[in-house]
Amino acid sequence: MAKVIYFSRRNENLLCGKIKDLAVGNTKIVAEKIAYYTDAEILELLPVVNYPTSYDETVFLAEKEKQEDLRPEFKPLMVSAVSEVIFLGFPNWCGVMPRIVVHFLEKYDFSNKIIYPFCTHEGSAFGSSLFELKQLCPDSSIMAGLPIKGSNVAKADTAIKNWLVQYKKMEE
Ligand SMILES: Cc1cc2nc3c(=O)[nH]c(=O)nc-3n(C[C@H](O)[C@H](O)[C@H](O)COP(=O)(O)O)c2cc1C
Repeated sequence: MAKVIYFSRRNENLLCGKIKDLAVGNTKIVAEKIAYYTDAEILELLPVVNYPTSYDETVFLAEKEKQEDLRPEFKPLMVSAVSEVIFLGFPNWCGVMPRIVVHFLEKYDFSNKIIYPFCTHEGSAFGSSLFELKQLCPDSSIMAGLPIKGSNVAKADTAIKNWLVQYKKMEE
């Protein structure tokens, strides 16, 4: 069975230039749709220390984590029986994947696994995160990624289903 593993942060975020308080994070919404369409198990990467609810404070912290190349701790995940296929999701933070996701990828061995990356963003799609993903998982097969604008997640089903065609063919 495939696994959907994602990091997402709810609360204040920037949507179409305006600060909005999100009850559910954008990446979580996409992750749940992918799990629904694939019957995959879904796992959320949760920080040990929650990120601030304030958007500005989170940007400040994310920038610091990036500049200082920090590795925020995450709560243990039941990935012992990691599947052959992983749908890996995260938001674009300051042009890269959040450092907590980097930490997760460094802690587990994804050699010979197939990774389908997806991200949500506010305009810069994956930024440089796909390049970094290839460096972090040199022995994984990294498939074409799916970037979705945060403000479009609710109506992203068609884009998700189209993106899943390749995976579904492989499963046949
Ligand atoms: C700390 C932080 C940094 C961000 N940096 C970028 C960025 O560089 N480029 C971009 O397009 N969007 C950026 N965004 C917007 C998020 O990628 C976007 O809102 C995403 O959908 C949030 O996903 P989430 O709700 O699952 O956390 C940033 C948001 C935050 C909170």
